[in-house]
Amino acid sequence: MLGLSQRSRFAGNAIEDGDEVAEKIARSGKEVISLNRGDPAAYFKTPGDIIRYSINVLKEGKTGYSYPGGVLELREAIATRQKRLYGLEIGPDEIVVTQGVSESILFLNSMLINPRDRAVVLRPYYPLYVPALQMEGGVPVYADYDESSGFRVDPDRLRKALYGARGKARYIIFSNPSNPLGTVMSRKELSELAEVAKDNDLLIMSDEIYDEIIYNGARFTSMSEVAKGIPAVILGGASKSFDAPGLRIGYAIIPDCGRYSRELLAKLMDYAKMRLCANTPAQYAFAKAVNDKAQHAKDTVKMVREIAKRANLATDLVNQSKYMKAARPSGAFYVFPRLNMDALKFKSDTELVRKLLEEEHVYVTDGSGFGAPGHIRIVSLAPQETLRVAVRKIDKFLSRYSK
Ligand SMILES: Cc1ncc(COP(=O)(O)O)c(C=O)c1O
Repeated sequence: MLGLSQRSRFAGNAIEDGDEVAEKIARSGKEVISLNRGDPAAYFKTPGDIIRYSINVLKEGKTGYSYPGGVLELREAIATRQKRLYGLEIGPDEIVVTQGVSESILFLNSMLINPRDRAVVLRPYYPLYVPALQMEGGVPVYADYDESSGFRVDPDRLRKALYGARGKARYIIFSNPSNPLGTVMSRKELSELAEVAKDNDLLIMSDEIYDEIIYNGARFTSMSEVAKGIPAVILGGASKSFDAPGLRIGYAIIPDCGRYSRELLAKLMDYAKMRLCANTPAQYAFAKAVNDKAQHAKDTVKMVREIAKRANLATDLVNQSKYMKAARPSGAFYVFPRLNMDALKFKSDTELVRKLLEEEHVYVTDGSGFGAPGHIRIVSLAPQETLRVAVRKIDKFLSRYSK
């Protein structure tokens, strides 16, 4: 019988919802300003050493399947980095390498979730968290950041969300630095969150893929520094801090803190075995890049300095508009303005974003895609002049649709 599964209806990604329209516009010879996808390599050339290592590894013929959990060289490099940056003592067997963080998230949901299980998702969230959970029959329970305090974590809202989960929540997931907010959680927020997780027997899933993209005086604390002895998965990879998303290398660190964490690691390995391995040459190339800390520090400082300038400019420009207001980010590379919807003739932010693409050829993502209607997300990686043109077009477009 021909057909599709029930679960497949949850598949999709708001960040790419306008791709078909954007593609049509581009094919008709008009330029689209794409500020929808957080791809640093589109604007900052991936560091030369990563490219050189990739070429060398291919020349050496390292093109076979690797150990399903990731080549030892890379897992050792990740363990050393985690110790150097965050003081976490882990061995290579507490790490599983996946095809991007995305694959870890899909595997973890399949491993953990039975139909009707709950999971707490801090909102606004990175879009993948929700369909990955729903496809397994899970039900998201949202805990909103407190927008009035600059999107900080509110432990009372967390506890209320857990009350709503009626004892059926398996894990809590969030990204820090946050996509789409650009906030960086304080050690206090992380400690409070860890305490709530501990009190409620929740696994912590801390997505730290932007851990080195920090600016405007913020200081990043890894959940691995705080959640000592509490079951946690720390996610990271090549896509953002190493400016190489096309390598498709991510990892899940599950620090050993007793039987449950070991069970998780063993099960994640079973999942890893099903797809044989992550891209082998990319794993070796990434291992070299992680180990070459002097070169990496140089590359990152340069990139982050420029990202800060662009994110600050985008924030300033947005805040000059009568129709938008954004907090200044201090991590990742997104600006997430609230729209003055009362003053605008749109039924929703989704409609606004679609029309903006069709009429002005500026491609951003609707806040609804992140669980936050009434906002848009602007990727602030483009050069300053492009950001100026884009925000000017957005503002002009919004005035045209003002009431
Ligand atoms: C918070 C967050 N997690 C995960 C991902 C996907 O990571 P990967 O490229 O490693 O699959 C992204 C990509 O934008 C992200 O923003």
